[in-house]
Amino acid sequence: MDSCRCCDYVMKMMYLLLCLILLHGHAKASSPAMYVFGDSLADVGNNNHITFSLLKANFPHNGIDYPGHKATGRFSNGNNSVDFLADYLGLPSPPPYLSIKSNANKTQAFLNGLNFASGGAGVFDSTNQDHCLSFNQQINYYSSVFTTLAQQLGSTEAENHLSKSIFTFVIGSNDIFAYDPDKTKLTTQQYAQSMVSTLQGQLKTLYNLGARKFLFVGTGPIGCCPSQRAKSKTNECNAVTDNLSTQYNKGTSSLLNQLKSSLTGFSYSFFDTFSSLMQCIQNPASYGFTEIKAACCGLGNMNAKLACIPLSSYCSDRKKYMFWDPYHPTEIAAALLASTAVNGAPPLVFPINAMQLSAI
Ligand SMILES: *[C@@H]1O[C@H](CO)[C@@H](O)[C@H](O)[C@H]1NC(C)=O
Ligand SMILES: *[C@@H]1O[C@H](CO)[C@@H](O)[C@H](O)[C@H]1NC(C)=O
Ligand SMILES: *[C@@H]1O[C@H](CO)[C@@H](O)[C@H](O)[C@H]1NC(C)=O
Repeated sequence: MDSCRCCDYVMKMMYLLLCLILLHGHAKASSPAMYVFGDSLADVGNNNHITFSLLKANFPHNGIDYPGHKATGRFSNGNNSVDFLADYLGLPSPPPYLSIKSNANKTQAFLNGLNFASGGAGVFDSTNQDHCLSFNQQINYYSSVFTTLAQQLGSTEAENHLSKSIFTFVIGSNDIFAYDPDKTKLTTQQYAQSMVSTLQGQLKTLYNLGARKFLFVGTGPIGCCPSQRAKSKTNECNAVTDNLSTQYNKGTSSLLNQLKSSLTGFSYSFFDTFSSLMQCIQNPASYGFTEIKAACCGLGNMNAKLACIPLSSYCSDRKKYMFWDPYHPTEIAAALLASTAVNGAPPLVFPINAMQLSAI
């Protein structure tokens, strides 16, 4: 009798302890997975699988600081912003969608999170067509994922999982680079407006396919990346490109605000990459940078005349450079940005940060 009662007590205490551990774990990471859409700033290897794409990074010196010096297809010396976003949110960085093997347990792979981002992609289908998965193509792939999950788990369980997951977006820079007033006949204002209205349809489609938590990474001061500076004799930032980027960010953040008030259960976090990077550019020393203009890897003026390919030269002090190649940040700059997006405060990230979005 006595030993049995004791046994019962021990069991009850262990059960309570287990509940406490589970509850605590749940409170820390409420989003079960991340789904990523975007361009080369977020691509973790999809383009490796696109045979005819010229927009690849699966060769040296890319990945020189990745474990094993591996060139994974990331446009970086190491990890990219999305890897750090996932890591800081306590989630695995999701694998490239195109890397999921046909013999894998797809239901399980799809539940763990997926990255659809593809170097070169834009909100417009015409942006770098044939070299990447456009944003619409990424959404089509996600739509088939949604269908599979709903079939395998039932709609309720699939929708429950997706509604708690984080949907990350890093898109728009390539459309801005593609702006050509002679070809489009649109003013920068009209062009940015056209990007935002395209985006509106795309985000609504994703909402209709179960997405609820939108983490939107705005476009940066991309007129200040080495490739754009190199177009000016004095290595100045390209004002038209930066202007377009600002207008697109303004339009996107008000779009998100509007979607939040019209769609039930929609929540978002907008990261102002533009202002965040401008702070670094204007005050490099306080962020540990000594070079914020030239690329680390490349050739010619600003290391911007050639992409980062095996022939290119590269810097040894990669923690001191803001740009890895003519278009993309170094791993250290990506980590800095992600840390602000996850744990920062308004006005750099609003109305809530990514950690708060995850906890909803
Ligand atoms: C980059 O990601 C890999 C794989 O997750 C990890 O092993 C490595 O530590 C990361 N590097 C940094 C600097 O965080
Ligand atoms: C695949 O994964 C799902 C979700 O974890 C699981 O329910 C299912 O039993 C797995 N199927 C196989 C064939 O292992
Ligand atoms: C962008 O350029 C337009 C037209 O030159 C100007 O009216 C507008 O104020 C600029 N916007 C920003 C954010 O710099």
